[in-house]
Amino acid sequence: MLWTRRHFIKSASALTLSAATPAFVRPVLAEDGFLEITAGPSRQRLYQEEGALSDLWTYNGFAPGPEIRVTRGERVRVRFVNNLEEPSSIHWHGIRIDNAMDGVSGLTQEAVPPGASFDYDFTVPDAGTYWYHAHNKSWNQVARGLYGPLIVDEEEAAFDREHDLTLVADDWRLSEDETLDTASMGSLMEWAHAGRLGNWLTVNGLPHPKFSLKKGEAYRLRLVNASNARILELDPNRFGGRIIAYDGQALGRAETLTYAPFLLGPAQRVDLIVVPESDFALEELSGDSPFEFATFKVSGNGTASGEPVLPAPNAIPEPDLPNARRVRLDMTGGAMGNLENITYQGRKLAREDFRKTRQVWAFNGVANLGDDPLFAAKPGETILIEVLNNTSWAHAMHVHGHHFKVVKRSGAQADADPPWRDTFLIGSGQTVEIAFVADNSGKWLFHCHMLEHAAAGMTSWFEVA
Ligand code: C2O
Ligand code: CU
Repeated sequence: MLWTRRHFIKSASALTLSAATPAFVRPVLAEDGFLEITAGPSRQRLYQEEGALSDLWTYNGFAPGPEIRVTRGERVRVRFVNNLEEPSSIHWHGIRIDNAMDGVSGLTQEAVPPGASFDYDFTVPDAGTYWYHAHNKSWNQVARGLYGPLIVDEEEAAFDREHDLTLVADDWRLSEDETLDTASMGSLMEWAHAGRLGNWLTVNGLPHPKFSLKKGEAYRLRLVNASNARILELDPNRFGGRIIAYDGQALGRAETLTYAPFLLGPAQRVDLIVVPESDFALEELSGDSPFEFATFKVSGNGTASGEPVLPAPNAIPEPDLPNARRVRLDMTGGAMGNLENITYQGRKLAREDFRKTRQVWAFNGVANLGDDPLFAAKPGETILIEVLNNTSWAHAMHVHGHHFKVVKRSGAQADADPPWRDTFLIGSGQTVEIAFVADNSGKWLFHCHMLEHAAAGMTSWFEVA
């Protein structure tokens, strides 16, 4: 088994919500039409309804932050106000966005200092399930709660709002007193292992939420993994869930999985269609026994609504594989890995440097952003990246500004019709090839979305110009 097993804290009493679907906090609309999203400290109960309050950093006072909901082709205008004690920025994960709006501190913009604000203004070319999160010291800021959902509806949404549920899952580490464990944050030991793994899961910021569904009616469940490093192990077949989209990109069909568990890596999304007949639960399966983290109460007399029209795929340019330019990315480092040849800021690291620099992973021998890009592409060029995981750990690699297809995976049969993705998992020792058309100009990140790995070296960039 690739993934580390964990033990959840003894289970708490389930939170009973009134019948309605747990709602997100509301966005604040400024006079000029911008949505205001303010990052700042706030307190939240993570473990149980009447339990202890954790000190978090959130958008508009709650983690997750407000659900931003627009229709494909629409403009999103967000005024980000920073009331934190450290600089920050917001990244719109999975959106094929204008580079200047990508929100990467230190690459596409200066981090917004405390007390200042920044206006994001962009259009969304693709429908689907996306999310936004802090992109400065993400290992710290996202772990404390700085993330939220961004949903882009199709022009004619097939599911009305009552049948379209956004479920943002997060893996928290709680201490004995049931509050967020902040003392353990930044442990170099974890940065060199699997990243920061928690011991508790919430959905939409709530412990054990209950959702009410109607029997026989079709629902779209949009599942987002907002964890720092946790790969969620799920089995949609346990409740008859079929996959209709990966990472926001609709398949145009409903797929029944032929294997289990299904792995949802950090930052990945999956949309499911479910036509419930009886109560069911979302269960995380990596522990010794299934861990139930959200339940669905099913009632009603079962008037079947029939198969709904499924969302059609977005128009994304197909990679031109025969003419692709090959790029190789060799992942090294980490615990039980090769720490011999890591260059950081132009200097080769020696044993005594790891503690100081906190750089313990490398891509092609380079830790973190070097002066030179991993590759520079001409607009419209097809890029094929061959990623070799020469580490003892799994990783979740994310490409900014583009969607790609996994065209080859060692140890697995080639997928005849691979789905579009923006984040892929790669196991220890595995080789994965991804391909995409580099058609979005600018400087883009390619990094591990296990946020501790990203901070500890697994971050690179490429340029389209
Ligand atoms: Cu979701 Cu560079 O991040
Ligand atoms: Cu990683």
